[in-house]
Amino acid sequence: METQLLGDSLQQLEKAAELIKNGEVVGIPTETVYGLGADASNEEAVRKIFAAKGRPADNPLIVHLADFSDAEKYTTRIPALARRLAEKFCPGPFTIILPKNDKIPHVTSGGLDTVGIRIPAHPVMRRIIELSGCPIAAPSANTSGLPSPTTAAHVMDDMKGKIAAVVDGGQSEFGVESTVIAIENENTVRILRPGCVTREDMLEVCGNVIIDHAILNELGKDEKAASPGMKYKHYSPKADVVLIDSDIEQFTAYVGRYNGDKVYSLIFDGDKEGFPYNCLAYGADSLQQAHNVFSALRQLDEMGAEKVFVRAPSTDGVGLAVYNRLIRSAGFEVIRI
Ligand code: TXA
Ligand code: MG
Repeated sequence: METQLLGDSLQQLEKAAELIKNGEVVGIPTETVYGLGADASNEEAVRKIFAAKGRPADNPLIVHLADFSDAEKYTTRIPALARRLAEKFCPGPFTIILPKNDKIPHVTSGGLDTVGIRIPAHPVMRRIIELSGCPIAAPSANTSGLPSPTTAAHVMDDMKGKIAAVVDGGQSEFGVESTVIAIENENTVRILRPGCVTREDMLEVCGNVIIDHAILNELGKDEKAASPGMKYKHYSPKADVVLIDSDIEQFTAYVGRYNGDKVYSLIFDGDKEGFPYNCLAYGADSLQQAHNVFSALRQLDEMGAEKVFVRAPSTDGVGLAVYNRLIRSAGFEVIRI
């Protein structure tokens, strides 16, 4: 199939919305990462998303709506805490898991009786939702297992020939996917996937925020994942990634033992001066690192890296989201010095 590249003019967005209404899959920009969007209520269309990504059928899709008040149409119950959180963090990089009703087919929810609801803030994405009139199911627009796409070009790299169109809405602002949370009880939230809405942010709205064990730890063979996505290998470039948790001096000494043509280091901006080996910097603070991490991993593949040593970010605030993506791209191979 030919994949059209669309711009963000009203006419082109109408075209994208028309394709979605007609059961096609379209690459769409959001403020977190690009998504692969289709009508969440159309099983046939949703199956095309799973096929294009090569995604396991039990990994549920997030449903994107224009306004949180629309969540009533697709869920059976919205706890008061969910409403308080939505008031503060929607629209934005934030997904709430709620009990679904039968307007959301089990194909979309990966067989679960819950659905992740997100209200995106990106104006292009919002326009596409409004023009299509559909609830839009959208996972990140990468091939399953690869780093998430933060530009239309990344989506084309993975999806050319597999989907109807990609809408170019510029580079994604945050660069890592939304924070995914479940409501544990009337005063407690469980973070299933960290993002740019942080634990600290949520503590302003509720008494207790649990960070799920699987965010920083590999699940054992028999452990049940609170979120199916936690079971799968993720975000990996072709290169073998190793995360090194140390200061820059120790990092440099460690990497020196493996130095070679196809060996690269992914370090902080402030580390670059005098760093003696092949390297790329991915930002100076957590927000910048979130913005750059996936595109840096893709860039390292283009540079021909076979082994990548990554200087581990802080786990504070937004850093937890960056650390979570990197530890998965490293297959949990972490060296602590
Ligand atoms: O920022 C984002 O969330 C992006 C953009 C496109 O909106 N979307 C995204 O979708 O990252 P995806 O499918 O790549 O990741 C969604 C994650 C998966 O790990 C999935 O297992 C989890 O959220 N998830 C979705 N629905 C769930 C549910 N009902 N219960 C538990 N986890 C769920
Ligand atoms: Mg994804």
